[in-house]
Amino acid sequence: MTRGRFISLEGGEGAGKSTQARLLAEALRVRGLDVLLTREPGGTPGAEAIRALLLDPPGEGWGPPAEALLFAAARADHVERAILPALEAGQWVVCDRFVDSSRAYQGGAGALGDEGVLALHRLGSGGLLPDLTLVIEVPPEIVKWRLADRDMGVADAIGGRGADYHAAVAAAFAALAEREPGRMKRVDGDGDADTVHARVMQAVEALL
Ligand code: TMP
Repeated sequence: MTRGRFISLEGGEGAGKSTQARLLAEALRVRGLDVLLTREPGGTPGAEAIRALLLDPPGEGWGPPAEALLFAAARADHVERAILPALEAGQWVVCDRFVDSSRAYQGGAGALGDEGVLALHRLGSGGLLPDLTLVIEVPPEIVKWRLADRDMGVADAIGGRGADYHAAVAAAFAALAEREPGRMKRVDGDGDADTVHARVMQAVEALL
């Protein structure tokens, strides 16, 4: 059995990742591939339960180390129970966010730093990395407009952080993509869903 391929989609809030993940999964299925479409935080019952704790935290919320540990715990369950079994069964895995989100949000914009996040990832998930990571980039003024439409003023605990935090997230994604050009490809997310999908397929072509 040939091991499947693992593709993650990354980017800041309102970049259109979820739409692009769905369109990519559909396009791969049309080519006859067996695809698991999944997301983080989430993708298994345990990780979905942790997602609820992260996005709507009880009490005064999580401090930076607890937040990073919860993301790593959700990912460990997702990797062990869903992603690795799918890859081993020959499925292609399309994941809406993966460890690069922790590197950008908790590592770059937050307090943990890249090494801290990668250490948790080695411990929790054996350091698993995708074969290809697409970083969807959208100018901040368009994101603002899309989010107003999507969230109607009600953002979750992380999405609702300030503009400085989200600018640091975008800068961290760009820096990671510069550092790891073999695995990470930047995709221009400005345009309608079909236009961006065509760019995504161009970036995925080398894997097919
Ligand atoms: P979503 O809105 O794309 O589903 O992601 C949920 C939120 O969680 C979003 O604000 C990004 C954040 N997040 C992190 O901060 N670290 C992570 O490792 C992941 C996967 C998501």
